[in-house]
Amino acid sequence: MARHLPRKQLVAAFLLWFSYDQCQALLPVDRQAHTSGLRRTIRQRCLHHGQTHLGSYSSSTNNNNNNEEEEEDASNKRNSHTPLFHQLHGIERIFALSDLHTDHVDNLKWLQSRMKHGDFSDKDLIVVAGDISHEYDRLEKSLQAMRDTGAHVFFVAGNHEAWLTKQDSEQALTSIQKLDRVYETCRQAGVWTEPLLVSGPHSTWVLPLQSWYDGSLTFNQELCRDFGRWPWMDFVRCRWPIDDFPPASKESGNGKIPMGLTEYFLQGNRDIMAGLDLSTAEAVLTVSHFLPNVQSLPDWADLNSPVFLLDEWLDHGAAGMSAKFAKVAGSALLDEQIRSLTAFSNRQIHIFGHSHRPKDFEFGGIRYIHNPLGKPRERQMHMVSPTADFQLVWTTATGEAAGETMLRYWDEKGGGKEALWARLEKVRPGRYSRKT
Ligand SMILES: [Fe+2]
Ligand SMILES: [Fe+2]
Repeated sequence: MARHLPRKQLVAAFLLWFSYDQCQALLPVDRQAHTSGLRRTIRQRCLHHGQTHLGSYSSSTNNNNNNEEEEEDASNKRNSHTPLFHQLHGIERIFALSDLHTDHVDNLKWLQSRMKHGDFSDKDLIVVAGDISHEYDRLEKSLQAMRDTGAHVFFVAGNHEAWLTKQDSEQALTSIQKLDRVYETCRQAGVWTEPLLVSGPHSTWVLPLQSWYDGSLTFNQELCRDFGRWPWMDFVRCRWPIDDFPPASKESGNGKIPMGLTEYFLQGNRDIMAGLDLSTAEAVLTVSHFLPNVQSLPDWADLNSPVFLLDEWLDHGAAGMSAKFAKVAGSALLDEQIRSLTAFSNRQIHIFGHSHRPKDFEFGGIRYIHNPLGKPRERQMHMVSPTADFQLVWTTATGEAAGETMLRYWDEKGGGKEALWARLEKVRPGRYSRKT
């Protein structure tokens, strides 16, 4: 007999499903207009950010000490048209993980313990695909825990890094400025944020792809009819220059999604990549926080299907949430950018974050990997592996590290929806008991 969660409990289940329950006190959002001159400032920021490391090279030694030299190096080369990248020698392994969310103390403890007891060294590169924390001190602690092992760390910011803290709001920062501060925090911690060329017998580029979401991964508009009233926390905790990125119109069905933001970030990527010769390595590993295509959506279960199969794939009781999340999941434009690079290398792998639903699949000649730590409760629920860990994706001695194909972890490895519902009951006894 089919089992259903009562409506009230479904709402609560939805909260768990995409777990935006960590939201803290809502911040006042100043919606005052910004001058259009800000766009110019933003572009300068983006270019400046790239130029601060212009053409610098580093070995695999601890790069905490390299930044001052790099600054000098960069200023010397700023006008010499040197490509915008760093070259790392001596790296043997590249690992990927996303969505550390260390504002959850359990996650911070896990990270610190994992780093203390792991075998990471300066021969490793750890790629983090966004969402560590919006709090500067948690971000610093998390980055430092990884850096203390000697490992190199590469970071691309997620939507949570764009959230404003109380202090950010008091200073009337925009999320563009917040991200700038986040990347400055990374630089201070010796964390890489610009393109890397990792040398070795099997060399690879590691490219950051900044992005946002634009509603282009929507698979069903009908399920999103209340999207404008959906309490997605980015709409409250981020603050974008409103003249440059106005919210989408109600008629578009994309509610409060800031228009033009994805294009802005992708243009920044284009500007930076234009200076790189990507054919100099065997592979290209691109890294974004956001999802690049519909196939990377949590519920997409069959790569051979050209369309989303509503009845078959949305049988877990959170159909509306899945549909609405697709709007804020990522952008098809991101995949266009990823695929524009296919001519330059023998192998392309894209690492992404954000959905907290593990994925590892090959589509259209590119491998897509989402390996999140996720939130404690998501691991409890087996929506994310309870033994989530850094995933080896590349070694410079042998090339690509194989992985098991994964389309829906919670379904394929977590026991399916029956087990999910049973765990719901266990996590919140009484609130999630089912009616048959
Ligand atoms: Fe996340
Ligand atoms: Fe995210």
